[in-house]
Amino acid sequence: MGWNPEFFLYKELFLFLHPMGNVPTAVKHCLSYQHLLKDQNWIGDVAPSPEKELHAIGFPQHVKIVEVGPRDGLQNEKVFVPTSVKIELINRLSEAGLPAIEVTSFVSSRWVPQMSDHTEVMQGIRKYPGVRYPVLTPNMQGFNSAIEAGATEISVFGAASQSFSEKNINCNIEESMKKFEDVVKAACNLSLPVRGYVSCALGCPYEGNISAQKVAEVSKRLYSMGCYEVSLGDTIGVGTPGSMRKMLGAVMKEIPVNSLAVHCHDTYGQALANILTALEMGVSVVDCAVAGLGGCPYAKGATGNVATEDVIYMLNGMGIHTGVNLYKVMEAGHFICSALNKKTNSKAAQASFVPQNENLCN
Ligand code: HMG
Ligand code: MG
Repeated sequence: MGWNPEFFLYKELFLFLHPMGNVPTAVKHCLSYQHLLKDQNWIGDVAPSPEKELHAIGFPQHVKIVEVGPRDGLQNEKVFVPTSVKIELINRLSEAGLPAIEVTSFVSSRWVPQMSDHTEVMQGIRKYPGVRYPVLTPNMQGFNSAIEAGATEISVFGAASQSFSEKNINCNIEESMKKFEDVVKAACNLSLPVRGYVSCALGCPYEGNISAQKVAEVSKRLYSMGCYEVSLGDTIGVGTPGSMRKMLGAVMKEIPVNSLAVHCHDTYGQALANILTALEMGVSVVDCAVAGLGGCPYAKGATGNVATEDVIYMLNGMGIHTGVNLYKVMEAGHFICSALNKKTNSKAAQASFVPQNENLCN
């Protein structure tokens, strides 16, 4: 793992033979980090940080990546994505070694038509041993449909903003908590784990600033009713390391840090910095979407989640273990971007990914 002297000698030789950057495209491909990426499932810094160094600066040794691309990434797509494409995407993400993949939402098809094939997707995917496949369920109707479709983990999704709650799930925060209590109780009766979301944790598209205290209060409600993990959503990607630190400080007074996740959209380009801040504070679960797809239909202007590829690239470079094969995630990203006829939002994929059949070096 790590340094490949041959590759770098090759690179130096070519830079010598092709001064002034006059390097043919095929060679540029070779000079990218593709070799390292593909063969060694690793790119970034030369050597992983020793465990004790990570500890000393407060970072976790292992981070759980929760892939939300098939749900959060696709829910905002205007044109219906064929069910077979959704299934293939999820299967590819499973093959990449992701430990949790949010599959779909059992919500109203009138509200979010893109998720109307939830049952077919849930039943069509290959379920890999050890991989969790949570689905969104806002109420008992959604919960019952999810169970019928074979879901084994669910997520309820609340908000720290009254206005967002009403726009997103058509009820205020208090009403939503009552619905979630029923859902969590029903899930507990079946011994199913439940994740809880708190949207607008760092700002709301309708109310602007949201107090850290309100985020802590809603998070505590979800945790106390039985959610094993609470994911703090920067729904519109307006947070900064400053607001993330303040909000997490308030939430961590109510909930153990190992039950927290961060869910950063990247609208203002702050997501990686915000995630790094959360890691430094001891958070070790990060939600992200392959190719940086996504947005919320009820949060106008919000762009996609932080790209899974970019988060893994950063963590690999820091020597933090994820168990995920970066190259395979990039392949899955390439697959879905081709299907959607879109360019990836992942900087790491833009910089280094060359699809196998276009790699002239092989
Ligand atoms: P409602 O209209 O208030 O529900 O919708 P209702 O109970 O009054 O029922 C009205 C109709 O909806 C009825 O149908 C129900 O059967 C149906 P009708 O009799 O009129 O034909 N209905 C349902 N259908 C399917 N599944 C259900 C369901 N419940 C009722 N579960 C509801 C309430 C929550 C369903 C609606 O507001 C909805 O579907 N909202 C969509 C919310 C959503 O998916 N938002 C995006 C995900 S959240 C997000 O992206 C943020 C996150 O990523 C974190 C972050 O970034 O911050 C998680
Ligand atoms: Mg989201």
